[in-house]
Amino acid sequence: MSYPYQIRSLEQYHHQYKQSIEDPETFWSGIAENFYWQKKWDKVLNWNFTEPSVKWFSGAKLNITENCLDRHLDILGDQPAIIWEPNNPAEQNRILTYKELHQRVCRFANALKNNGVKKGDRVCIYMGMIPELAIAVLACARIGAIHSVVFGGFSAQSISDRLQDAKVDYIVTCDGAFRGAKDIPLKKIIDEALLSCAFVKKVIVYERTKIPVVMQPGRDVWWHDEIKNVSDECAAETMDAEDMLFILYTSGSTGKPKGVVHTCAGYMIWANYTFVNVFQYQSKQIHFCTADIGWITGHSYIIYGPLSAGATTLMFEGIPTYPDAGRFWEITDKHKVDILYTAPTAIRSLMSYGTQPLQNKDLSSLKILGTVGEPINEEAWHWYDENIGHKKCPIVDTWWQTETGGIMISNLAGVTPSKPSYATLPLPGVQPVLVDEKGNEIEGNDASGNLCIKFPWPGILRTTYGDHERCRLNYFATYNNLYFTGDGCLRDADGNYRITGRVDDVLNVSGHRIGTAEVENAINMHSGVVESAVVGFPHDIKGQGIYAYVILSNSADNTDTTRNGILQTVTKVIGAIAKPDKIQFVSGLPKTRSGKIMRRILRKIAEGEMQNIGDTTTLLDPAVVEEIKNGKL
Ligand code: WT7
Repeated sequence: MSYPYQIRSLEQYHHQYKQSIEDPETFWSGIAENFYWQKKWDKVLNWNFTEPSVKWFSGAKLNITENCLDRHLDILGDQPAIIWEPNNPAEQNRILTYKELHQRVCRFANALKNNGVKKGDRVCIYMGMIPELAIAVLACARIGAIHSVVFGGFSAQSISDRLQDAKVDYIVTCDGAFRGAKDIPLKKIIDEALLSCAFVKKVIVYERTKIPVVMQPGRDVWWHDEIKNVSDECAAETMDAEDMLFILYTSGSTGKPKGVVHTCAGYMIWANYTFVNVFQYQSKQIHFCTADIGWITGHSYIIYGPLSAGATTLMFEGIPTYPDAGRFWEITDKHKVDILYTAPTAIRSLMSYGTQPLQNKDLSSLKILGTVGEPINEEAWHWYDENIGHKKCPIVDTWWQTETGGIMISNLAGVTPSKPSYATLPLPGVQPVLVDEKGNEIEGNDASGNLCIKFPWPGILRTTYGDHERCRLNYFATYNNLYFTGDGCLRDADGNYRITGRVDDVLNVSGHRIGTAEVENAINMHSGVVESAVVGFPHDIKGQGIYAYVILSNSADNTDTTRNGILQTVTKVIGAIAKPDKIQFVSGLPKTRSGKIMRRILRKIAEGEMQNIGDTTTLLDPAVVEEIKNGKL
């Protein structure tokens, strides 16, 4: 495939950027011409950020899977679409060509239909990283069902909350999932979640680990039975440009995760455009994104971006350190990976094993490296550059969010300059602004402020499922006429952007977004807990760790048993990813006279900053601050 819209020089970048800002509709309709439409659009863009309402390519009809599969069959039919590498290196890898993937998607789409799934129904997908996860996602898109993938690390309770919020009709899961040395009993967790979700009609189960499962007659069916005797052709449903494609839950500053909604046309174009340009994808290259499909990174850069571009995408079932810390490098050599896209937390974790796992690894197939999910510290950046890229591979530091659908600020590999710890420049179509507390735009370079975007791009979220007002309040109400990202940011003398981290009550732990309120809610469910406050603190590998201050109803219970009990409660309510790294028992929390917890103080103490914690005279009980300082872990 060729990509006429691939930017090949710095000069071209500046030119395209300028065009995209001066005349966005002409710019994006030019890009859209490169896709397959059942019917073209009447209007490129309608928008206002007050409702908010954003509509791209109104009137157009398409199916994203025709763009990801059908249109490639003639020329790329026998090329690998998905290369799958199992958790255990002793097991055979699998390769699915575009033809095979097309057949399997159609077949499973027919199986979904036979089970009653219709256009607009919500399908929750809770599976490990196997090709059938990608097949399930694409099969939903094929028939116009809205997929909502839930990461395999979330607990039964988290799943149940999401099922209820999205009013999910159908579930696709596995018996279990292999992840490192663990075997996660996915179906058992689904069974527990479904105790409170009787509205779910069917559960389709793919057999992966062969762990025994209980199948509820009438509700639960096996994937392998359902795909027997069904056709491997399935006409793609006709979708409106603005029909929902998927819902993906993400944490915010309130206790309840929100269902970010992306729609068909705009998301497709954004995932594809950013993939082709940021990674400078060239035909036949192998693209290895190490994220899980349970996160937006997997949606956009394992499935939709690469497949819509006719690329070969490598999907890995396991974790970077199993069976040893050389696993990524072994996979890279085995499949001659060209592009490696991973998270700073993975780099830091692998760095901690030294260069021994790199011995006898070649890595010469690598051409481009990428990072995503959190700010990358300079040390990790240089380690990646020297030990993995051998100083020959451009590194793209890609800033974006679940809500943005795809990459927003990043250098383009080898085309625009990189600068360690800077995401650098906005992609065409992205208009970043920095604002002060009052919402005034800070103009000029060498500035810092809260990062907002002042014009819609095709991949912007359209709503939060079932609660549009929440979408407005969260993203469009803080500053007039701006999309607010929740991130702090600075702009250097050359206009490069550097993301400094969240400015709201959201933590970024190992690149995973976790709301402090969610963790507090979970901790408070432990019977011995009266109240808690959670903040982040700098963590060498995770980027941010979770520090919990907890008040017990009986202070004599301040034992490790209680600590473990709290950790278990959090694991049960949210999942292991939200377990606090530190739990400090306290007799009180610093509160203002109106009862508001002064998180600023707690954050300073958790960071080890004991001197300049600011004014404490307005506190209800200033003495509690001394006690907390003395008990710091
Ligand atoms: C938050 C979004 C984007 C997919 C993975 C995370 C942080 C993301 C970077 C980066 C600095 C980054 C931001 C953002 N973030 N990429 N390159 N440099 N920070 O998606 O869970 O929606 O989290 O991750 O704080 O707001 P997410």
